[in-house]
Formats: sequence, C-alpha cells, structure tokens
Amino acid sequence: MPAHGSSPQRRRREFEVVRVTFITADGKRLAVDAAEGARLLEVGQGAGMSLEGTCEGQMACSTCHVVIAPDWFARLKPASADEEDMLDLAAGVTRTSRLSCQIALTPALDGIEVHIPGESRDMQLR
Ligand code: FES
Repeated sequence: MPAHGSSPQRRRREFEVVRVTFITADGKRLAVDAAEGARLLEVGQGAGMSLEGTCEGQMACSTCHVVIAPDWFARLKPASADEEDMLDLAAGVTRTSRLSCQIALTPALDGIEVHIPGESRDMQLR
C-alpha cells in the first residue's frame, strides 16, 4: 500500500472564496460566497435568483443574462463573439450585460456586483 498523506509537503489545492452580491430587479441585495471557478449562472441559481439558464451554458438562449456593475465589468474576460451575438437577442440588454453562464469566478472578482434584469426572453420558446 503506498504511503501518502503524511508529508507536510503534500499540497492540497485551496480554493478561494469569491463573494458575489446579487441585486434583484426590485432592488434587493443578496451577498453569497462562492468557490473560485464556479460559474456565475449556478451561483445565482443557488442563491434563488431568477436565472433560467435554459440551455445550460450552450449559448443558445440568453435566459442567463445579467448586468454587471460597471466597476466590475472591465475586470471580466471579454465576451466571445458568440456571447456578443446571443446578448444582442437578450431583453433589456445594457453596455455591461453578460451571459452569466460564461463567467467563471476568480479571486479577482471577489466583491463583484451583479444585477438581475427584470425581464428575460427564452429564445428557444420564441
Ligand atoms: Fe443559455 Fe447562458 S444558459 S446562454
């Protein structure tokens, strides 16, 4: 049986906690702690936000549309062309809109503020 786990040098990957504050369409704020690497869509759904995420991250619906607070928007990796195309179809889109299924949380995003739009449109249902 291999001996392992006894070395003090043994490294475990430690995940940073990333705090996300959601702001609902009617102005309620809810702060949740998420693990680094988690997708914003699942974090929002877990917090009870109204994010359908109908296509489960395949960039085929836009029901995961969120609006990022301007101070935080610039810290995100830029949206891909496919994401931009899908955002064009989202209801209530703004200059700082993103698809939450395309955002993986990093320690640099600790404190991010995310607005949940008041309306969404499911492109699969027309
Ligand atoms: Fe469908 Fe994000 S879940 S585009």
